Amino acid sequence: MKDHQSDTTSQGTGESSDSLTNRQGHPVTDNQNIRTVGNRGPSTLENYDFIEKISHFDRERIPERVVHARGAGAHGYFEAYGKVGDEPIAKYTRAKLFQEAGKRTPLFVRFSTVAGGMESPETARDPRGFAVKFYTEDGNWDLVGNNLKIFFIRDAMKFSDMIHAFKPDPVSNLSNPERMFDFLSRTPEATHMVTFLFSPWGIPANYRQMQGSGVNTYKWVNKDGEAVLIKYHWEPLKQGIKNLTQKEAHEIQGKNVSHATQDLYEAIKNGDYPEWELCVQIMSDDYHPELDFDPLDDTKLWPTDQFPFLKVGKMVLNKNPENYFNEVEQAAFGTGVLVDGLDFSDDKMLQGRTFSYSDTQRYRVGTNYLQLPINAPKKRVATNQRGGQMSFYVDTAPGQNPHVNYEPSVTGGLKEAEQIGKVHEPHYNDKLVRETIDRPNNFGQAGDTYRSFEDWEREELISNLVDALSVCRAEIQNKMIEYFTNADKDYGKQVKDGLAKAMESRTDTSHTSTVDADEATNKSRQMGH
Ligand code: HEM
Repeated sequence: MKDHQSDTTSQGTGESSDSLTNRQGHPVTDNQNIRTVGNRGPSTLENYDFIEKISHFDRERIPERVVHARGAGAHGYFEAYGKVGDEPIAKYTRAKLFQEAGKRTPLFVRFSTVAGGMESPETARDPRGFAVKFYTEDGNWDLVGNNLKIFFIRDAMKFSDMIHAFKPDPVSNLSNPERMFDFLSRTPEATHMVTFLFSPWGIPANYRQMQGSGVNTYKWVNKDGEAVLIKYHWEPLKQGIKNLTQKEAHEIQGKNVSHATQDLYEAIKNGDYPEWELCVQIMSDDYHPELDFDPLDDTKLWPTDQFPFLKVGKMVLNKNPENYFNEVEQAAFGTGVLVDGLDFSDDKMLQGRTFSYSDTQRYRVGTNYLQLPINAPKKRVATNQRGGQMSFYVDTAPGQNPHVNYEPSVTGGLKEAEQIGKVHEPHYNDKLVRETIDRPNNFGQAGDTYRSFEDWEREELISNLVDALSVCRAEIQNKMIEYFTNADKDYGKQVKDGLAKAMESRTDTSHTSTVDADEATNKSRQMGH
């Protein structure tokens, strides 16, 4: 029998191994001209190749991510150290990928900025996304983090308002720091994150030379079902950490809006593989009344003198994507994607996030987004999920009766797996309420962070804040000064003095004696978002 794949001439078109075909496998003999009546006449509707080509092009884009739209990705592996710090890791978690020293797990990483659209400059003053998908033997684990270790808010209810405030004005489509600070000046818990974001830590030099953090609090569970609270952190190894001043960022942005993507792509292409060490902080799983913050509050750092960074393994990125769209754009990470031995905590942000990711991905990528190679686990998948748009294979187990797409069944369907380790079963006994947490402590750590900065970092922070706040109305400026003063008296004073000077020079140039609120509102200033 003839192998039709290697048949090069059967269509009578001289088809060879590198000739163009359409998606039906038909050789394309003319890719330059549509069919027309005469060489300048009207075209005909049966131009199948043209209609296929252009209508596929018309559908090339999927909705960009509602946040973190601008990103770059790479493949690599995670290598476990087989312990946590100096202790056997099995004491805390039974997750298989961590147990054995030297064990490698393939992974895919996507770095991103948050607020800008798909092709926005990578010099933005913005957190950077740091999302890692581990293809473990137990299925996928996604660690969806950022470069900074904390966040603006601690309750998922506020997330969409926050993002609306950070994105451009829905009428003019212009970015304006007043929108952002309008929200932030009514969100005191954001003061700590604002302190990091407006310092040089708000513009990492590129994706290689930055840290990563899971930000939210998770749990580890051991074989006895006992849990501890965990924070994850990625520390850059040989490439180190580097941030940019606002001036440096502007200079780069004037020449290149994709410098971070370029840096990552070229480093990997040249064999200069970036590496990060994965560290965890561990806390016992309880309320911790001795702390002046709640361990489930993602606006707080866990002090490293009490909760040291313990090394558990390292990540190496050693392969660029073969196709940006298929791998980077269609990659779908989510905080619900955990493996046995890893668990959620009651962190309210984490719980809200866990719904949001797969919800948006069913819309952004499609119902069967988990069948795409970049998202599918690199292990056996056997479900009773069937159909849906773009379903292109059936997740069956060998020997499964294909008629039985339900469970339980005695006629050859799939069966539940055996539970090996003891299940972690936290106990709850409380009223259902809508309340903020007991230990908000909105300013203490913001002050600590301000005082921990080097002089040049503090100077940058003040200058960047003054610059952004100078276009905001007085009510917003005053509230922000109050928050900074609560954090540290000098911090508040520096911003206040800086703003007074900035407003004076603004008044000098505009010859008006007070800040005109409308002028401030309308004045659109590039904030790097
Ligand atoms: C992306 C929601 C907080 C890190 C996204 C996406 C959504 C979302 C809808 C787009 C996902 C996609 O289209 O595939 C939320 C909600 C949050 C929240 C509702 C709070 C309640 C956070 C926090 C972090 C974070 C605290 C950092 C730890 C990321 C990252 C991505 C992302 C890194 C990009 C993932 C990628 O590269 O595909 N988030 N997010 N998010 N989020 Fe969040």
